[in-house]
Amino acid sequence: MIDSDLKKAWLSLSPDANEPEIAFKLVIPEILKIFGFNQQEVCQQYLTGRGAKAVDIAARKNTGEEDFSHTKQDATLIVELKKRQLDLSSSSNPYKNAVKQLKGYLHPTSVNCRQVNWGILTNANRIQLFRRHGRVVYPYTTNIELTAENIDEKISIIKTIIDNQQQALTVALYNNKGGVGKTTTAINLAGILSLPKPLGFGKKVLVVDFDPNQKDLSDLLNIQTEKLSLFDFYKDRKSLNINDVIAQYRFKEKFGFDIIPADEKFLNATGTDLASIPKGTLKKALSPLADFYDYILIDSPPGDSYFTHEALTAADVILMPSKHNGVASFKNAAMAMKSIFPALGKDRRAYFPELADPTPLPIFFNGESITPTAKAQAQNAIKAIVRQAKQEDQIDLMHFFFPKWTPAQKNLEIFEMPSYAHIASAAFANRPAVFTSKVACEYYRNLVQEYFI
Ligand SMILES: Nc1ncnc2c1ncn2[C@@H]1O[C@H](COP(=O)(O)OP(=O)(O)OP(=O)(O)O)[C@@H](O)[C@H]1O
Ligand SMILES: [Mg+2]
Repeated sequence: MIDSDLKKAWLSLSPDANEPEIAFKLVIPEILKIFGFNQQEVCQQYLTGRGAKAVDIAARKNTGEEDFSHTKQDATLIVELKKRQLDLSSSSNPYKNAVKQLKGYLHPTSVNCRQVNWGILTNANRIQLFRRHGRVVYPYTTNIELTAENIDEKISIIKTIIDNQQQALTVALYNNKGGVGKTTTAINLAGILSLPKPLGFGKKVLVVDFDPNQKDLSDLLNIQTEKLSLFDFYKDRKSLNINDVIAQYRFKEKFGFDIIPADEKFLNATGTDLASIPKGTLKKALSPLADFYDYILIDSPPGDSYFTHEALTAADVILMPSKHNGVASFKNAAMAMKSIFPALGKDRRAYFPELADPTPLPIFFNGESITPTAKAQAQNAIKAIVRQAKQEDQIDLMHFFFPKWTPAQKNLEIFEMPSYAHIASAAFANRPAVFTSKVACEYYRNLVQEYFI
């Protein structure tokens, strides 16, 4: 078999290739060409607009007369290059620093990178694709090791992902602990994201109630199963249409969001019925909808069950409402990070091989009024858990608990959603609190701005 130009270019790299060699021999003429970018659609040392910081390579398809390599604006893809001899394996410090650097380029203050959807980190021996959706930057593929044997296949997989870019960010509301505010957050987040501007964000939102035992979300909004239920659809995915499962929630017939209601038929299904459904079916079922919605929010039950696994497998990112009182709550969150999510990632790759683990977003305290003393106690308890995880499990949980922490500014702030009576009572009126209360609206707008937009 004749070697592809890509493979030949990879094989021609010197063992100690530096960034320019990797750029000029491999990335620009081969990888970016395969992704569909010609030389006029690529620029090097692209200024991100955040200070004088420049990323190695940026690209955007030209439209009409304009030439990206001259205008150097509104890139859609960036590539951060590292020397071939730098260890970019996932547990190495150079890798962690390079990821930080890439995320820095995709920070909202990097004005020239606001249109960037994809970031690539590579040293020719490894390549990893990161996706950016609003404020969220997360690893989309695993950190792939390239070889002469696999490079054609792996680059073609990344091309397919980029070509089939989906609009939605899929968020699972999860905590292994019960009663922390998952359902309340799902409802109000859907409300505020879908509420028209300027009060809300004017986004298209789908909420999936994947807690058929409690079906709190469907009950709270008084939503019934449509003519087709999710379980019906599961049984005949080839001939049925997922759109027939979707119900609408509209506030005063003006605005609102869509819902896939909880389906009790899952509960009547025997264990063997459930076991016969291939893992990742929820992800596959939601996939065509991700082209239509801006956000898909999945309300998951607590614990570690078929339903939580499927919800998390389908998610890009995981949002974890938590409680500040009691070390047990933090230990639980740390346990999810140490064992539940990685196990799930392995499961997920059995069905979607190159997909990275779903990314846990930093926790937030929900429905809490926290005194300064209680906050200091919580911070100390968390610091001890972070230390222990680092020593015993070599896992860094710092930014999962303290997203604003840096060595220079030891900021231990954790986002707080206040306890507010209207948020609880709105449930009895079958509506999200954000549609009837200015205060609730403000609280959830802050949540969206902290995490998503
Ligand atoms: N910010 C808040 N202010 C006031 N009440 C709240 C707030 N968040 C949640 N609650 C109340 O806390 C209770 C538990 O919330 P919710 O049902 O959303 O938790 P959950 O994590 O979904 O529970 P489960 O694990 O049972 O699914 C509800 O009565 C809800 O109204
Ligand atoms: Mg719930």
